[in-house]
Amino acid sequence: MRTDDLIFYEIYPKSFCDSDGDGFGDLEGVRSKIGYLKDLGVNAVWITPCFESPNVDNGYDVANYRKISEAMGGDEVFEKLLKEFHEHGIKVILDLVANHTSDQHEWFLQSKSGKDNPYREYYIWRQTPPNGWKSAFGGGSAWEFDERTQEYYLHSYAVEQPDLNWENETVRKEICAVVDFWLDKGVDGFRCDVLDQISKVFEDENGNGNGPRLHEYIRELFGREKTKTCFTVGECWAANGENVRLFCGKDRGELTTVFAFDHLCLEKEKFNLKKPCLREVCEKMANWQRITQEIGVKNTLFLENHDQPRSVSRFGNDNEYRYESATMLGGLTLLQRGIPFLFQGQEIGLTNSYHTDISAFNDVESLNYYQERTEISKAERLARINAMGRDNARRLIPWTDGEQRSWLAPYSRKNEINVEKDRAEEKSVFAFYKRLIAVRKAERAISQGEFAVLDLDDAHYAFERRCEDERIVVYCGFEKGAQLDKKFEGEILLNNYADFSEKELLPYQLIVIRAKQ
Ligand code: GLC
Repeated sequence: MRTDDLIFYEIYPKSFCDSDGDGFGDLEGVRSKIGYLKDLGVNAVWITPCFESPNVDNGYDVANYRKISEAMGGDEVFEKLLKEFHEHGIKVILDLVANHTSDQHEWFLQSKSGKDNPYREYYIWRQTPPNGWKSAFGGGSAWEFDERTQEYYLHSYAVEQPDLNWENETVRKEICAVVDFWLDKGVDGFRCDVLDQISKVFEDENGNGNGPRLHEYIRELFGREKTKTCFTVGECWAANGENVRLFCGKDRGELTTVFAFDHLCLEKEKFNLKKPCLREVCEKMANWQRITQEIGVKNTLFLENHDQPRSVSRFGNDNEYRYESATMLGGLTLLQRGIPFLFQGQEIGLTNSYHTDISAFNDVESLNYYQERTEISKAERLARINAMGRDNARRLIPWTDGEQRSWLAPYSRKNEINVEKDRAEEKSVFAFYKRLIAVRKAERAISQGEFAVLDLDDAHYAFERRCEDERIVVYCGFEKGAQLDKKFEGEILLNNYADFSEKELLPYQLIVIRAKQ
């Protein structure tokens, strides 16, 4: 698939739009917002899992890969939604959660029913844990003892998310069939959940992923005639400068692109209160720009997703400079080289949500952290969960400031920041994102051009995009603004302040210039 023009928007349907007022977002809700997405200008959506699921991990525990959950609206609504997205020229990719299933999936129910069951080998069972792997969500060992069959099964995530055994060829065929099922329905591709964990090295204490058969497995899935042209993005925590060519090289039959996380994993411990340094974030992004450009692949551009806190709170200033920092971060997401992925709410500058009681949280990872880390004071644990927890991305989108019934405590700043209000404001983040998207679409230098860093220091990041005789320069000011040693020269395409001074960037100022050659 041609990727130059793609601009993705990630929809977490449970928290996007609730059409029937039951407090849960649903696919009818998504349908009702196609016009909104069209207006914003995106032309592709990634819909996170909306399949049958007991929702221990909000749908990332799939109980039936071929059935859209009834709570979401069921199969018919999905088909209608897909058709309408396509009628509006918007591509649709689904989440393929293939490392694990729900413990309620028929395969697992069979698998745990007895050692001789034909499904036993669909999962990873051992008489004794072969290593000390821990569940990524906390809660202790990744090996759970099953009383009935007196063996342990592997769950890299929650206990209710048993890992599939990819060494079993039948499992690989099953997942290929799931992929084909959705392609036959007309979807345009897949975002592949924790894809680099499907091949493991059990002897290695750090080996839960990036194993020796990873690329072979991915090729089996996506190197086939039927899958050659679909769009695929792998969530690959192990992606790096060395292996990205293996994942995405044109001749490889693996993935279109990957999500790599260097720029978001700045601290060893996830739950922390340290404000990341923008210079470091941009250095990591620039490094991926260089790596992917050198080998001729497109990387993904993103600062948010359903697992991350809100970018304006994390990297910007969510009070005094909320508009400026949200729009500057929009520039980082939409103007560098690669395929942009916006996350719902980012386009109106939603901030983190602040709560003072653990009952306001739902995410299994945050709840485990709160329960386990009792050596840290309650207040500090809550502060860390407020800052870094995944629920920040999962509160229902505040379309208005009205009352909102919600499965998760509503966004705490809903009265002050909501879609209706933002769109009516003179300084509307949505309106600026629209302009960023329009510029990306209009300027080949941005959608297709080469990338080069011009300057990167403690105060700002400047880069250029070039395509034939077009040259666009982007200046991003950090929290204190910056003094520059050159004047801006050329036509100003975008500026998130009303004005500009010749050799200065104000805090979080974004200036985009069509430069002279
Ligand atoms: C991925 C998903 C995350 C989920 C986990 C387990 O990281 O993005 O939301 O909890 O995989 O499926």
